[in-house]
Amino acid sequence: MCGIVGYVGRHAATPVLLGGLRRLEYRGYDSAGLSVQDGKELLTLRAVGKVSRLADKVRAEWPEELQTRRVVGIAHTRWATHGAPTEANAHPHADASGRIRLVHNGIIENYRAIRAKLEAKGHVFASETDTEAVARLVGEYYKGDLRKAVIAALRQVEGAYGIAVISADEPGRIIVARKGSPLVIGVGEGECLIASDPSALISHTRRVIYLDDGDVALVTADSVDITDLNHAPMDRDVAELEFEPGAVEKGGYDHFMLKEIHEQPESVRNALRGRLDLLNGTAVLSGMGTGARELLDLQRIVMVGCGTSLHAGMVGDFAFEELAALPAEVQPAAEFRYRNPLVDGRDLVVAISQSGETADTLAAVREAKDKGAMIMGLVNVVGSTIARETGRGVYLHAGPEISVASTKAFTGQVAVLLLMALKLGRGRRLSRERGLALAAEIARLPELIEAVLRQDAAIAKVAESMAKHEHAFFLGRGPMHPVALEGALKLKEISYIHAEGYHAAELKHGPIALLTPGMPVVVLANRSPVVDKTLGNAEECKARGARIIAIVTEGGPVAAIADDVIQIPDCDPLVATIPAAVALQLLAYHVARLRGCPIDQPRNLAKSVTVE
Ligand code: AGP
Repeated sequence: MCGIVGYVGRHAATPVLLGGLRRLEYRGYDSAGLSVQDGKELLTLRAVGKVSRLADKVRAEWPEELQTRRVVGIAHTRWATHGAPTEANAHPHADASGRIRLVHNGIIENYRAIRAKLEAKGHVFASETDTEAVARLVGEYYKGDLRKAVIAALRQVEGAYGIAVISADEPGRIIVARKGSPLVIGVGEGECLIASDPSALISHTRRVIYLDDGDVALVTADSVDITDLNHAPMDRDVAELEFEPGAVEKGGYDHFMLKEIHEQPESVRNALRGRLDLLNGTAVLSGMGTGARELLDLQRIVMVGCGTSLHAGMVGDFAFEELAALPAEVQPAAEFRYRNPLVDGRDLVVAISQSGETADTLAAVREAKDKGAMIMGLVNVVGSTIARETGRGVYLHAGPEISVASTKAFTGQVAVLLLMALKLGRGRRLSRERGLALAAEIARLPELIEAVLRQDAAIAKVAESMAKHEHAFFLGRGPMHPVALEGALKLKEISYIHAEGYHAAELKHGPIALLTPGMPVVVLANRSPVVDKTLGNAEECKARGARIIAIVTEGGPVAAIADDVIQIPDCDPLVATIPAAVALQLLAYHVARLRGCPIDQPRNLAKSVTVE
């Protein structure tokens, strides 16, 4: 997804802008550009491909000595939505005069109408983008006050935006505005930065201001003045970023994904910290804000999310029904927002999102709010839009997840969902004994994950055979079915192997026709009441020549027929979803590594999908 960086302050803007873009590379993009103020002019460079190519152009065309005096600028990495990844479509885009430049995240839904009106007035567009229409509209309204011109233009705009705008005629200031696409302002000493996510700011300042939808800010080196679109002043607090600058570095690992896989004992420890009550066999989740009465009156839990977060919700579905005897369901957020959902004040809608910015999930939150449901967020990024709009919930405390492929967020989400189910269960029918046993198992999670991580070399060996194939199946039952889906998603998104996750019993209802000799079939066969049924499914595949890769708890029955065995520690079947997921994360990572794939930034993918 696109990335925005802006700088105004006492240092040269160019290196700060390029450094910020590099921090945002993990979000996925296909072109980049920057504009800086140079006296009474704006200078702009843009390039297709990686930020390194833009940096090469800067070095070639902006001699070093010229860079130090340019102290205001904006920059952008573009993930193409309207128009191919070309230099002409890359941001920043100009107004007709060329004296205003603008960068934008989001989608302007009425850009065609705006463009037609401007073309009828003689504008000749230089790109295919929706963004250029906004830049030209700002220029149309500019009469010497950039913030007024931006507000006038945005009042014509429908859709989602996060924008930053500079003008050659207004040195030393940047106008930023957001509606549906996140923007955060970093407040430093004699300098301010703008970014689409805090990881681009952390090496400069930890003091940040999160803009809300409808905010317009005039940012200078020493001030941030925020209004709404009616010019009414808005008061926004300055927050402190909670993660360390090193958290956005690879820390000696070859990829962020591998680092984040190995961070999981700690990230899950952070998710559990202060939330497990081992004396009473329950969980303490103050952020849920649910009192005992409210818990008992709950009629249903509805989880909404996308991708990996959706899979986490599917595990939570089993946990809520088994532990809390509470009807639960999971819906793709994109579906929930458009199906006129049957929810009301007795339902708890849980929005699950690592970034807290996924457009479909945010829209589902707003739909649930409109329907009067209780809502809460299960989010990783502190201060993100979903976290703020739900108003209550549980943070994962997993630290920044840089790799596009989500790993520690998934295990953190599942861990917190188990805690929520335990808390709700103990507030309803779950016995103290069962609660104590489960709490003890959940407390073991960091060591269970470490046991899997110690098998890294063995899993890398299994990956060697898998890497030669173009198709694979992942099979699971019960709460391991969503883990099968998640394992298939990991493999798909980083190795480009066509992998399908299936309920183990479902394979024979059609998909088994796809089996060919040697085709890898990953079978999740931990200790569970249905492991013998899973054994039967594995044998059906083996009988047709498939290569069985079994994820088993020590010595499970499927190990006997498997070609490859990956062991996970014996634990409660709900808890086992986390170590099993870690094993599949490592498997996908090593397959992608062996296939020479760009693991942290897979083709076509973005870290946070902030557009529909
Ligand atoms: C997972 O590996 C993917 N990167 C993707 O499916 C992701 O989980 C999905 O886009 C949801 O993102 P969120 O958790 O930030 O809302």
